[in-house]
Amino acid sequence: MQNLAGKVAFITGGASGIGLAMADAFADSGMKLVIADVDTEALAAVAQSFRGRNVPVLTLELDVTDRAAFAAAADRAYAEFGAVHLLCNNAGVYRGGALDRVTFEDWDWVLGVNVGGVVNGIQTLLPRMREQGRSKGPAGHIVNTASMAGLSAGAGLGVYNASKYAVVGLSEALRADLAPHGIGVSVLCPGMVRTGILDSERNRPAERAADDAEAEQAAREHNAFMQAMMASGIDADHVARIVLEGVRDNRFWLLSHPEMKPMVEARSAELLDAFGEPDPERLATLQQVLSGLQPDS
Ligand code: NAI
Repeated sequence: MQNLAGKVAFITGGASGIGLAMADAFADSGMKLVIADVDTEALAAVAQSFRGRNVPVLTLELDVTDRAAFAAAADRAYAEFGAVHLLCNNAGVYRGGALDRVTFEDWDWVLGVNVGGVVNGIQTLLPRMREQGRSKGPAGHIVNTASMAGLSAGAGLGVYNASKYAVVGLSEALRADLAPHGIGVSVLCPGMVRTGILDSERNRPAERAADDAEAEQAAREHNAFMQAMMASGIDADHVARIVLEGVRDNRFWLLSHPEMKPMVEARSAELLDAFGEPDPERLATLQQVLSGLQPDS
């Protein structure tokens, strides 16, 4: 989507960190903004700062796990701006702790926001984006925020890893599904970025409280490790520039941390080494199916 001026971006988790930096970058490119977030206080401050800059902005209180609220937010966005061209499924939370110490509530909260929020964004807005595409030219672009934790897994990150691997996988499928419809897809996989992510518990609903001393201790220990890692973190503005260029050039992989390439290389090498030699007959059948031909029986 080369020309962004006048187009509409809908950003979840847009009141802080990477989402807010994206909003800034999109506003500088002349876009109209729908900023949705569960944090009402942060949202109010963001609304004021954009109004001061004369940017057309609609701020919406939205918990991305709430499907009815998401549909209502989409209605508000279309009533205000008439379209959504760029959907950024960005809202996310982090919770650390080894998998033998986390709780069901940890799983439900993190998967609910990080995966469920992306699913709800796609289910709610994609039909409308496709519809608008049929009537008014190219329909737009979807950016899903995953993480380097969606490409490489490690101790203490299992719940978060599971959520971000899911976002990478669904984004790869989405790219293939939407290619015929003129809707681009990108998956954003940053490493450490200086944001509020390590303070995610601020947005944890009471009904998802961990309520388990051992899990709390494990999370605290992992958080201390992540705080130390944050010393290598980059600014969210840098990530937002990568997103902006990626949307313009319709790039799928949006990567901001080249220093983490060896981690992905090591995982990929182990994976590739684990393959044996293919059976020639099965290989030929598979190739025929994949090229759209009927396999010989
Ligand atoms: P952040 O904490 O600064 O921003 C996240 C925003 O999401 C906050 O405004 C928060 O209120 C909102 N949010 C949380 N739960 C929500 C819900 N249920 N519904 C709606 N909004 C909700 O953190 P950051 O880093 O900007 O996070 C953005 C995305 O980037 C997340 O998906 C995160 O997993 C991902 N990420 C962050 C990295 C980092 O090092 N900061 C690295 C890789 C990925």
